[in-house]
Amino acid sequence: MAERDYVLGTHDDEIYRLGFQHRVWRPRALDAWARARIGDGCKVIDFGAGPGFATMDLAEMVGPTGQVHALERSRRFIDTLEAQAKARGFTQVNAHEVDVVADPIPVSGADAAWARWIFAFLPRPKEALQKLVDALKPGGALVFHEYLDYETWKLAPPAPNFEKFVNEVSANWRGSGGEPDIAPPPSWLTEMGLKIESLKPYVDVVSKDDNTWRWPIGFFDIHIDRLLELDRITPQMAKDMRDEFARVSALPGTLMVTPLVLEIIARK
Ligand SMILES: C[S@@+](CC[C@H](N)C(=O)[O-])C[C@H]1O[C@@H](n2cnc3c(N)ncnc32)[C@H](O)[C@@H]1O
Repeated sequence: MAERDYVLGTHDDEIYRLGFQHRVWRPRALDAWARARIGDGCKVIDFGAGPGFATMDLAEMVGPTGQVHALERSRRFIDTLEAQAKARGFTQVNAHEVDVVADPIPVSGADAAWARWIFAFLPRPKEALQKLVDALKPGGALVFHEYLDYETWKLAPPAPNFEKFVNEVSANWRGSGGEPDIAPPPSWLTEMGLKIESLKPYVDVVSKDDNTWRWPIGFFDIHIDRLLELDRITPQMAKDMRDEFARVSALPGTLMVTPLVLEIIARK
């Protein structure tokens, strides 16, 4: 794939951002996997694994007798993922360089599948979901963390340029064939014969002192450059966004509302 095809890019800053994001979301992922009964010896798919930060935690959870199949189309991310697995001696990790929309899923009879922030980037998400469901064995679990409402992401007090940034990100995302507010509709899952076991919304309201603040803000910092690179914003707009953010975030008591993520656990 052309690395530029992935709307957020695959450069080193993006790898670092995904690692930091995983550290913030890790407790919720571990909790969801445990509730979905992912454990020793399980065969698990990591759907759109990126550089493999969740893959490594899944590898620990399934242990050496399990298997984690990481599906990812960026060669650069796969290289990072394989290097991490090698460094940690995880022979249970198998990386597959595939496009989950265009290619067949190279795994069958899986006990579980994990998908986080991937469906939002897919041009035909329902088709991809059906392929993922087909790759599960009966009784297998699906665990998703996907955005349900990206535009809950705001500052308080209001910051119009920041809101413009969020709108621009959503528009760019949609322009490249994705849909930020994708969290696979429960109706799709029931149509495909799955039973919803749990639905859980995650939204945080945090101050600058909270570690969670840095998760979306890290994205804001590097994504302004990405929007410039794609000519979606002008250098003046980028400056206004940065200046306003510096001013509003320096005010005492400023809060940030994070983008709403929906957790879904469903069973085949
Ligand atoms: C925001 S990252 C999330 C990575 C990982 N799931 C996580 O939670 O850290 C989205 C990932 O989806 C991958 N991706 C996007 N479209 C894809 C496709 N059609 N097939 C396979 N991977 C894809 C991207 O390359 C990227 O690694």
